[in-house]
Amino acid sequence: MSSVYLRGGGCALLIDMSGTVPAVIHWGRDLGDVAGIPLGVVNPVPHSLYDAPVVTELVPQASTGWRGRPALIGHRPGGTDFSPRFVTADYSQDGGEATIRLLAADEGLELRVTMSMSSGGLLRVRHELTNNSRDGYVLDGLNVVLPVGPAATEVLDLTGRWSREQHPQRHPLNQGTWLREYRHGRTGHDSSVLTMVGTSGFSNRRGEVWATHFGYSGNRSTFVEKTPAAPAMLGSGQLFSPGELELAPGASYRTPWLYAAYSTDGIDGLSAAFHEWIRERPTHPRTPRPVVLNTWEAVYFNHDLDVLRELARAAGRLGVERFVLDDGWFKNRRSDHAGLGDWTVDADVWPAGLDPLIHEVLDQGMEFGLWVEPEMINEDSDVIREHPDWISGPGHRTPVEWRHQQVIDLVNPDAWQHVFSQLDALLSNHRISYLKWDQNRDLVEEGHDGTPSSHRQVEASYRLFDALKRAHPQVEIESCSSGGARVDLGILERTDRVWTSDCNDALERQTIQRWTQALLPPELVGTHVGPTQSHTTGRTHSLSFRAITAIFGHFGIEWDIRGLDDAQSAELQAAVALYKQHRSLLHSGVAVHADLSDDAYLLQGVVSRDRREALYSFVCVRSARDELPGRVPLPGLDPHSRYRVAVVFPTGAMPYEQRNIIPWTVDSVVGSGAFLGEAGLPMPILLPEQGILVHVIEVADSPRGAVDGD
Ligand code: GLA
Repeated sequence: MSSVYLRGGGCALLIDMSGTVPAVIHWGRDLGDVAGIPLGVVNPVPHSLYDAPVVTELVPQASTGWRGRPALIGHRPGGTDFSPRFVTADYSQDGGEATIRLLAADEGLELRVTMSMSSGGLLRVRHELTNNSRDGYVLDGLNVVLPVGPAATEVLDLTGRWSREQHPQRHPLNQGTWLREYRHGRTGHDSSVLTMVGTSGFSNRRGEVWATHFGYSGNRSTFVEKTPAAPAMLGSGQLFSPGELELAPGASYRTPWLYAAYSTDGIDGLSAAFHEWIRERPTHPRTPRPVVLNTWEAVYFNHDLDVLRELARAAGRLGVERFVLDDGWFKNRRSDHAGLGDWTVDADVWPAGLDPLIHEVLDQGMEFGLWVEPEMINEDSDVIREHPDWISGPGHRTPVEWRHQQVIDLVNPDAWQHVFSQLDALLSNHRISYLKWDQNRDLVEEGHDGTPSSHRQVEASYRLFDALKRAHPQVEIESCSSGGARVDLGILERTDRVWTSDCNDALERQTIQRWTQALLPPELVGTHVGPTQSHTTGRTHSLSFRAITAIFGHFGIEWDIRGLDDAQSAELQAAVALYKQHRSLLHSGVAVHADLSDDAYLLQGVVSRDRREALYSFVCVRSARDELPGRVPLPGLDPHSRYRVAVVFPTGAMPYEQRNIIPWTVDSVVGSGAFLGEAGLPMPILLPEQGILVHVIEVADSPRGAVDGD
């Protein structure tokens, strides 16, 4: 049969291969057996258009009549071969994987499309272009696109800034192009982890939705394009600086992966496909995610061995498992004005090196982690005093400073080797289990030897991560970039978690984490209990609200906990214990989010894969419209099983508790999954910035016959 037909998780991608070019017939719900699929059915030819049927090409090209954004943009150095005509050369499919090879014989170009569909329905597509000519080929862009179904009428994506990443924005899907261009040299604070289009009003649990993510950490564009002649297309491609990429004869260029998911069950269905695929990766962390203590908001640059030892002991008493020494430990790093690039321990502040602290941390039964920012330099550093030409830039001047720092030109092999050797020595000479790898500025005007290098710089950074991982496979790496400016599946091929945001305000975090976790499972998303008064917003939050928010992720603490009073210590200890008790559920289960009519309330949960238990958080994020939250559904449970409900946090009294006497009867209610998921339970009246955690477990005599833990 002349088709490529990838199926998985109730989804399908059907490509008609019976014509001269691959035509995408369908990406959406599974279509069943291939025998029922007619191929070669052509579109009518509209008035005042090319005299050929319109084809929704997998690789759109002007030479077949596509008037939207072409997949490939490029030319020979003199401008020739600007519009190639690709036709299918051959293709093959093996289960969920397929390859299609296209040739533009007249232009001497070859394009290989690689695709796969996971058993959970996650689709991956990438292109590889090879220059088969004897002349160079200037590549200006290569987009990977997928058409969505006709029912999509709305676009939802995310945007942000420092300390406010991944906030949703929604608008109608009209004709035209919704184009997001990220020119940060890094992924970017405004980067949307998903671009979603769907049926009118699609929500957490309802509607047909299509979504893509581009797995790349540098300049790129993502777009939704609707032309009059074709379905809407979702696409992405790298953005190159002028003249940045010229393919020599015989050379190839491969795009990053475009990841794509389709769901009939709203956004939760998309996340399920992404989370399942991400968890199946061989590199996915499989050990319990340790409770972290990060020193940044506790001491900032004020490194003092006695203070940090005391902090380590306080952390040990609370049950912390990983102690991360943040910025400020290396040579001359007394502020953010100096030191980046000299990755040796500051002898003034640390006369006996880092070992006394490391030993204290290990004695407390914790792992030791360290902050680094390897791609950056301060001009006030030994390395730049010695090698001023190692600053990446246009060559004749240095780029604008940002946080008093510049980018080290990792495309320069000597600079790359210098950074690698310093980090390698650091890891070889200390018992370091974890690196918080930061990147605190946009990389604009990236250049090497006077030529643009933004793409090569990202590749060189990736090589640095990869080389260090190879040399120190036991070391976990966190991707931090002034908070969440490098959150993507490209960096996550070589790192083990992301720092979600520099904002530890639990209220802001409710939104930032919810949307970061639309793509990433909670175990990859760093979530810390910050100080009582948030350092980035000035808001004050109860410890319970901060802890409830941090438990739905890779939990940690970023707060000077040396001075906690007894009540605070007890509550934080309870939160740590609760996280440890439930982390295997939180880090393996299915993420769910209820659709509630009053947006003052948020209900999220994680349901175990066997649906025998679940943990939900119910929080209030602003003053409520209604007098009561009403009945709140607990989605995702087995409709046929019966469950017992327990409020497990906070353990102490809440303000205004007297008004909540009756609603607390949700505690120990037994109900079926159908009842809890559809009718729901009357939840307590919460004040803004309060929350509760609800644990639900299948009862022993449940119709499904479970006996777990009742
Ligand atoms: C960035 C990070 C913070 C902290 C500081 C240190 O802003 O996002 O978490 O590590 O750098 O300078």
